[in-house]
Amino acid sequence: MLDHSKKINNMEQPKINIPYVSKKNPAVEVIMQRSIEDTELLLKLVAERKPSLIVELGHGNGGFTMAMHEALPMAYIKSFDIRKIPLDVVMDNVSGRVSFINDDVLDGSSAVRTYLAWSNRKLLYCDNGNKTQEVLMYAKYLNKGDMLGVHDYSVQQSVSDALATSSSIESYLEYIGFKKHHHEDFEEKLMRSRLWIKTG
Ligand SMILES: C[S@@+](CC[C@H](N)C(=O)[O-])C[C@H]1O[C@@H](n2cnc3c(N)ncnc32)[C@H](O)[C@@H]1O
Repeated sequence: MLDHSKKINNMEQPKINIPYVSKKNPAVEVIMQRSIEDTELLLKLVAERKPSLIVELGHGNGGFTMAMHEALPMAYIKSFDIRKIPLDVVMDNVSGRVSFINDDVLDGSSAVRTYLAWSNRKLLYCDNGNKTQEVLMYAKYLNKGDMLGVHDYSVQQSVSDALATSSSIESYLEYIGFKKHHHEDFEEKLMRSRLWIKTG
């Protein structure tokens, strides 16, 4: 069980490994490094805004990828990971709209930017392990109406080394035109994810 008494801070939180059970085929289970509650809240809020493209940074075993596909079957999903992870079970249970890409997203030549240039409404979901770096590299390419999801979110994460005008991810995102999507469960249930909308 997650110890909810601990502050949201990815240095302090234990790793969660929970099976995502396919809603279409309950015999299919894929381990996710995230909680079911966090997953369901995030997908409910994302589904309300119906992105047509999801770019996931750090797919791991692909459990959350499958969850996003089942929640938004019409969306194209481009999921990246630096490791070559066996994804046969997931691949057998998703449509051709889902692609897994073996790539280092922190490398400036990564294909991530190509996908973020699509004009359709997008969700960029950052879960590769270095949120500060991912957000700094890619949030600026999102357009008005697009969403940014960040897992293992911590308001304390400083971006001051990279951007002198901002002292945290929060102030950096506000500075470049994002507004935090408020939902009481994020705070009250100490969810690990947060969602931002590009409004300006
Ligand atoms: C926390 S896990 C992802 C968990 C997954 N999203 C889930 O919900 O189950 C982080 C993943 O990021 C990947 N990763 C770490 N650095 C990366 C990089 N520079 N580029 C792409 N993927 C990276 C790791 O290999 C790992 O699989």
